[in-house]
Parts: sequence; structure tokens; C-alpha cells
Amino acid sequence: MKALVTGPRGFVGARIMSEMENAIPAPSLRSCSDDDIRRLVETVQPDVIIHTAAISDIPTCEKDPDASRRANIDIPVCLVRTGRKCVIFSSDQVYSGCAGEGPYAEDDVSPANVYARHKLEMEQRTLDICPDTVLLRATWMYDMPMYGVPNRGNFLMLMLRSADAAFSSGDYRAVTYVREVARLIRQAAVLPGGVYNYGSENDLSMLDTALWLKERLSLPIRISDRPAHNNLWMDCSKAKSHAICFPNTIEGLKKCIADYSL
Ligand SMILES: NC(=O)c1ccc[n+]([C@@H]2O[C@H](COP(=O)([O-])OP(=O)(O)OC[C@H]3O[C@@H](n4cnc5c(N)ncnc54)[C@H](OP(=O)(O)O)[C@@H]3O)[C@@H](O)[C@H]2O)c1
Repeated sequence: MKALVTGPRGFVGARIMSEMENAIPAPSLRSCSDDDIRRLVETVQPDVIIHTAAISDIPTCEKDPDASRRANIDIPVCLVRTGRKCVIFSSDQVYSGCAGEGPYAEDDVSPANVYARHKLEMEQRTLDICPDTVLLRATWMYDMPMYGVPNRGNFLMLMLRSADAAFSSGDYRAVTYVREVARLIRQAAVLPGGVYNYGSENDLSMLDTALWLKERLSLPIRISDRPAHNNLWMDCSKAKSHAICFPNTIEGLKKCIADYSL
């Protein structure tokens, strides 16, 4: 399978590149026109485009919705219009306005910020253009730093580096080991078109997850309970029915701890 990976130096893209040794890294798409993107795809002739490039920071999207629209909607729409099979990362933020307890299945959406609204619009437009498009809703992902790759803020590094942190006993959401996301990407690339919750499940609150990790690694961090209710807990049955099975949040953390001998 000849895969073109966008965002190959990003947090997820770099791990996908190291997992798929023959994947072709796309150049930065930040200043590319739609014509540049079409020419790139025409030159590479990929069997599949794995699209990770995005503005994935929620406050940045809030501050600059036009830039978010270009990065998070227009570019993926342009890629899908090339007629190639596309696997595109979306986000569990599409559940950010849901009032329920979770877990949320793929249809239970209620986006509560610009980033989430743009991701949801992108999902709907790319599927309208090409129903074979695969949309992967990812959770907050973590890893140790990778040599040569900018390390974005993530749950594990926050826990390892901070003296104090606040998590909510009312937030039920998963965190996912990004290396599992990369490990399962070949299977994701042959999924039938549609939207998939793609990550770990978790029936613990973020506070309990953080307390578990603190105890497991004997971390000196002080953890407090922050009043909040922002359940993003995903029901991943649909992906599981296609044999895409992530470890749950605690099992994923144990795997990461073992991989790095933490
Ligand atoms: N990280 C998470 O925890 C998380 C959680 C849920 C969903 N996601 C989604 O998963 C995907 C990958 O996330 P990530 O954490 O790997 O993202 P990232 O590291 O923040 O960014 C990936 C790449 O996007 C490119 N990029 C940045 N700004 C851009 C712009 N204005 N226009 C076009 N490209 C731009 C950059 O590549 P260049 O420098 O080469 O331009 C960057 O390396 C994204 O779709 C994100 O929304 C991530």
C-alpha cells in the first residue's frame, strides 16, 4: 500500500511514519494552494492518503477561525476531491457539547467550540464528496518525546513534569497511547468509508486516571479535583467490529510504561 502521510513531522504523523516504513511524507501544506495539493497527489499517486495535518489546538482555532477553516476543512476537502482513498483524523471534541454521561456513539455529536465544529463539518463534507472516506475520531493522545519531533503537551508529559495539576472527577474521557494509534493505522486504511471512534475507552474519570498514574509511577505531583463536566468518553464498538481494538486507557498507560521502562 503506497501511503502519502500529511503532517509527517507532527505528533501523530511522525509516529505513523515510523510505523509505516515505506510511507511518503507530504511537504507542509500550510501555504499550499488547492492546485499545489492536487499536483502533489498527482505526482505521488498514492493508494491512500493519511491526513494528520491540522490546526489541532483549540484556543488557536478559537482565535483564528479562518485559519482553522482552511486547515481543518478546506485542505481535507481538497484531498478527498482528488479521488484517492483518504483516512482523515478528526477528534472526540465533536462530543464537547454533549450533556450526557457517555459513552458516546458516532451519531451523538454536539460540538462546542470552533475546532470541533470545523472537524464535524469536515467529516460531513468529505463523506458527501466521497462516501469511501474514513474519518477517525481521536482522543487526547500521549507519548514520551520523540527525537527530532516537537513534543506537544500531552497527559503523560504533564504528569511527569508538573508539580501540581487539576483534573475533574466529572470528566469521563479517555487518553490514548499514540503508538497504538499508529500501530492500527494500516487496518484503519482499509476500513469501509464512515466515521469511527478511534482510541481507547475509559470508564474512569480524568481525576481517577491521573491518580492511578501518580500511584503507579510514584510521581511527586499534587493532584486536585477541578469542578468541570466535559465527558468525551467514546463508545468504540464500531471500530471493534472491524477488529480495530485499542487497549483501554489504563492498559494503554501500562503498555507505554513498559515500552519506555518508566
Ligand atoms: N494530539 C492530540 O491529542 C489529538 C487529539 C484529537 C485529535 N487530534 C487530531 O489528530 C490529527 C493529528 O494531530 P497532531 O497532534 O499530530 O497535530 P499537530 O502535531 O498539532 O499538527 C500536525 C501537523 O499539522 C501541520 N499544520 C499545522 N498548522 C497547519 C496549517 N495551518 N495548515 C496545514 N497544516 C498545518 C503541521 O505540519 P507542517 O509543520 O509540516 O506544516 C503539523 O506538524 C489532527 O487532525 C488533530 O486534530 C489530535
